[in-house]
Amino acid sequence: MSTHVPSFTEPADRPTAPAWLLPTIIRFPRAGSEGAQRTATESLFEHTEVWGAFPADAGREQLVDELVRCKLTGRGGGHFPVARKWRGVMATAGGGYAVANGAEGEPLSAKDAALLQTRPHLVLDGLQLAAIATRAEHSVIWLHAGATATRASLAKAIAERRVAGLPGPHIQLITGPDRYLTGESSAVVNALSGGPPLPTFRRKHSSESGVNGAPTLLHNVETLARIAAIARGLDPTGHVERGGIPSALFTVLTPTGRTVTEIRPDTTLGQLVNSHVAETPQAVLLGGYGGNWVPWAEFQAIPASEPAAQLQGRSTGAGIVAPLPTDGCGIAETGRILEYLADSSARQCGPCLFGLRAVADLVSALARGELGRADRKRLERYRAEIDGRGGCHHPDGAMRLLASMFTTFAVDVDLHLRRGPCRADTGPRLIPVPSA
Ligand SMILES: Cc1cc2nc3c(=O)[nH]c(=O)nc-3n(C[C@H](O)[C@H](O)[C@H](O)COP(=O)(O)O)c2cc1C
Ligand code: SF4
Repeated sequence: MSTHVPSFTEPADRPTAPAWLLPTIIRFPRAGSEGAQRTATESLFEHTEVWGAFPADAGREQLVDELVRCKLTGRGGGHFPVARKWRGVMATAGGGYAVANGAEGEPLSAKDAALLQTRPHLVLDGLQLAAIATRAEHSVIWLHAGATATRASLAKAIAERRVAGLPGPHIQLITGPDRYLTGESSAVVNALSGGPPLPTFRRKHSSESGVNGAPTLLHNVETLARIAAIARGLDPTGHVERGGIPSALFTVLTPTGRTVTEIRPDTTLGQLVNSHVAETPQAVLLGGYGGNWVPWAEFQAIPASEPAAQLQGRSTGAGIVAPLPTDGCGIAETGRILEYLADSSARQCGPCLFGLRAVADLVSALARGELGRADRKRLERYRAEIDGRGGCHHPDGAMRLLASMFTTFAVDVDLHLRRGPCRADTGPRLIPVPSA
């Protein structure tokens, strides 16, 4: 796999110039800190040198057409088509909110922090383009309160833009608690409307009635950075015709840390892992705690391009890739992640409050070899009962993980049911899981 490092002398205003969002590979500790190891934050002056001036003349209709051509989907994990979201808000009278979601609640992910700590102006350009296109009166960037390195980088960038008098509403930096669910869109809308930062079931889409009942366009920060590049007419892939599928950021869990890298859409996820991890894994957790376990043989061929991955029935989610070495126990790892997801519940809906806890307890018991065949049926039944029943999609992610455990580690599940725990069950845990 080749990771492109753009030359700062490259003219960035040519449509054929590569538009890589990250200046280089960015490394983070394996767990516990959102601060990148050795980064330099691009100033407004440097940003303008690399990317050209703020594209104030990007016509809103032309920009949406370009977003359609690039098939840009949201990088917050759900991959909703960006142009469709924009059209929903643009059909309103405006006067609402543009929100950059930088909460990055998924503990394994570091791509948003990488972007915000190296190229904050690219994200803020995207936020302001979204605000201008939707005639929003407010621009907000939403973060975890504990994201101190990211906050510092953004505060400086916002001050620089104010001094330079760049277009767009005044940008507010607002933080919420450091919890898994703080980045879920309805939790963000709730919090910005003065309520608790918890998900809620919303009858109307936030494009129509979001923060304080006003039209709201909310995007993940990587999505906004990509929009800022596309608005400049930059080739989103760096190597094919304008209008091609964009590159994407991935966070790869390695034995020594987490590495954020940007890869071309014609790369496979197998190439991505092989370039970061020496040992061939047995399986890979794709998409984080609410994602899927995928057996290595199948994982290798998944394309990095989301539309191509979806053709194979897969999704790259928010770009989290966590390989599980051959000496790990997929069941024990799943049990620990499910415990975390159960602890993270906002405790408002029955399936989430009671169901996730019951499932997490059962999977942890399975890892210890304490379950029989009847319990497996019970687990399967709980899964069917919980899936799709929460007020938000939090329990769905947990059930997706559980379903993928049954398929990816089918032989291990059977062995745990028949013979008890495997040797790996007493060994070290390989996927970092914080306390909720
Ligand atoms: C449980 C849960 C947690 C989420 N956490 C985040 C998060 O931390 N950051 C984020 O950008 N999106 C998160 N999302 C997705 C958001 O709800 C929303 O779809 C996304 O921010 C929209 O941006 P996009 O259109 O650019 O993808 C989460 C979704 C769920 C169901
Ligand atoms: S499903 Fe869970 S997290 Fe989502 S609204 Fe219900 S209790 Fe809250």
